Amino acid sequence: MQDLHEAFGGKKIVLGVTGGIAAYKVVQVARDMAQLGADVRVVMTRSAERFVGQQTFAALSGHPVLTSLFSSGADVPHVELARGADLAILAPATANSIAKVVAGMADDSLSATFLTVTCPVLIAPAMHTEMWQNPATEHNMAVLAGRGYYIVGPTSGALSSGDEGMGRMVEPAEIVSEAAEILARTSSLTGKRFLITAGGTREAIDPVRYIGNHSSGRMGYVLAEEAARRGAKVILVSGSTHLIPPVGVEVVKASSAQEMHDAVLAHASDADVIVKAAAVADFRPEIAADSKLKKDAGPPEVRLVPTVDILKELGHSSGLRKPGGILVGFAAETVRDEEQLVELARHKLEIKGADMVVANQVGVPDSGFEVPTNRAVIVTRTDVDRLGLVTKLGLAKRLLDDIAGLL
Ligand SMILES: Cc1cc2nc3c(=O)[nH]c(=O)nc-3n(C[C@H](O)[C@H](O)[C@H](O)COP(=O)(O)O)c2cc1C
Repeated sequence: MQDLHEAFGGKKIVLGVTGGIAAYKVVQVARDMAQLGADVRVVMTRSAERFVGQQTFAALSGHPVLTSLFSSGADVPHVELARGADLAILAPATANSIAKVVAGMADDSLSATFLTVTCPVLIAPAMHTEMWQNPATEHNMAVLAGRGYYIVGPTSGALSSGDEGMGRMVEPAEIVSEAAEILARTSSLTGKRFLITAGGTREAIDPVRYIGNHSSGRMGYVLAEEAARRGAKVILVSGSTHLIPPVGVEVVKASSAQEMHDAVLAHASDADVIVKAAAVADFRPEIAADSKLKKDAGPPEVRLVPTVDILKELGHSSGLRKPGGILVGFAAETVRDEEQLVELARHKLEIKGADMVVANQVGVPDSGFEVPTNRAVIVTRTDVDRLGLVTKLGLAKRLLDDIAGLL
């Protein structure tokens, strides 16, 4: 109970209620969170009002309930509601409201609010089994999970129609406890300084050509976004990628391994956590020609020399880093066996002087470069976390949970 007070105390929670029978149970969710010290702000759809009166939520939350997109004043109510929220909860989440969130619609106060919030969102679906199992809803849920929305339930049991089956909203206590966990997790990195690298490097052969790699940058970008969402101040040193910079993250561009080295060292001494998710070239052409090498001159002899090993330098020169800071390296490996992956991660941990190494498989269809999933293990000096197949967002969340534990 003490933990719940700690998790909810002073937190602004947006509670979105949509038109399902389970709306009556969400009254309890509003009441519990308000009693635990949260500032609960309710927004309801027109359909939701057919099930529970707004007066009930207003009395329990101590605030007027938003039901209309337009107000007579100069303010923009849904923006006001969304601003500064620590968590938004959609419960019960109808099939319709889920579809609207996925599509990015904003034609009523609730959908406009959920399109505006930038905080974590928890969704508690409730619907009839056929609606839940419809490919449209299955697709929508997969999209939401991929976007990093938290989802609780549904569960199996008695449904409003008198049927039994999958689609019943989880009990209010489970929503409250899931919300508390998210709040605790999302504030775990508040004020911590993260330095994250992402993307591949490009080593010039001449002004036109370079040696590069297949890194898309997705892993580092997802990590940066999730760390910022959890309250960290994030500097993202980005190699080549086509990704859009995450909101609230400072991006520093670096093209070659040397540029990435210089950018990392410029910020390393301030960082509580350094995560090196970039695919940095191990070799570069010894000489980059000043002008374009001509085809007529025949194939050039390109001699490769080692680049600087940024992770090793950081791991072995404690003066470059903040005392007590955490250093995390990534290893891309082509082995198929998970035990071999663990061994390679342990070896890298040792030789680089890192605190944590994430080893992931590359060269398989569902893991590594340019795909949204990874097969990975996280190795520290004392533990091994075998993740199996996870989305890159899932991996980012697990890694940040582990880092928060170390901090
Ligand atoms: C009695 C009754 C119960 C309903 N329960 C649900 C439900 O549990 N889940 C759901 O997705 N839709 C349910 N619906 C249908 C929704 O109310 C309907 O799709 C509505 O348009 C949802 O609007 P909203 O998402 O804007 O609240 C129910 C409809 C009725 C008449």
